[in-house]
Amino acid sequence: MKRSEINQILRQADDFIREHGFHLPPFAYWTPGEWRTKGEDVAEIVDKRLGWDITDFGSGDYAQIGLFLFTIRNGDLAGLQTGRGKLYAEKLLIVDVNQITPLHFHWVKTEDIINRGGGKLMIELYNATPDEQLDDTPVTVSTDGVVRTVPAGGVIALVPGESITLPPYCYHKFWGAEARVLVGEVSTVNDDSADNRFFEAVGRFPQIEEDEAPAYLLVGDYDRYYSDLPASKT
Ligand SMILES: [Fe+2]
Repeated sequence: MKRSEINQILRQADDFIREHGFHLPPFAYWTPGEWRTKGEDVAEIVDKRLGWDITDFGSGDYAQIGLFLFTIRNGDLAGLQTGRGKLYAEKLLIVDVNQITPLHFHWVKTEDIINRGGGKLMIELYNATPDEQLDDTPVTVSTDGVVRTVPAGGVIALVPGESITLPPYCYHKFWGAEARVLVGEVSTVNDDSADNRFFEAVGRFPQIEEDEAPAYLLVGDYDRYYSDLPASKT
């Protein structure tokens, strides 16, 4: 993706989020220059991969196959093993009409996907077989505490205010209908480097063509702007 395209997506997303009365934390608006001045006191942001995260899943066509994410909070798997600490994560997503997030499940993470406002969020569901293929069995899920069962490949539409709980090994694919959707995700700790099982192989973090300066950094940019900091400060 071109950096100019990413910057435009960030600005439009920021407007859309504000229109819905939601506010991002201060670090969302640190410029690349400000990031270069940050020290170890902000290491949690980098280590837990908090912040702006845009992906076209390697499609080269973000409008058709892509997702906007902002990770607001996150723990780590080490915490899960002790059963104490930040065992949870929260993200904000933006899903456009017919913009697909490809079919995937998570081995560890259970996630609630919440329609926070806008259009409808359409979610297609399959159970995974033990060898991680698509099962033909009906899928039973909880939507706001109400159990629902759909056939394999069935689609559940969430209107604003509704949510669905997706347990591990439940394949899901989603897209927006009628209008752009502001989506929340509340989950177990999130590890995008190791806990996403896509049915068909995809790219998760985009290759970026730097045709202009970043407006704000994506999580994938932190290493370039932050990791050399201790050496440069000494
Ligand atoms: Fe997911």
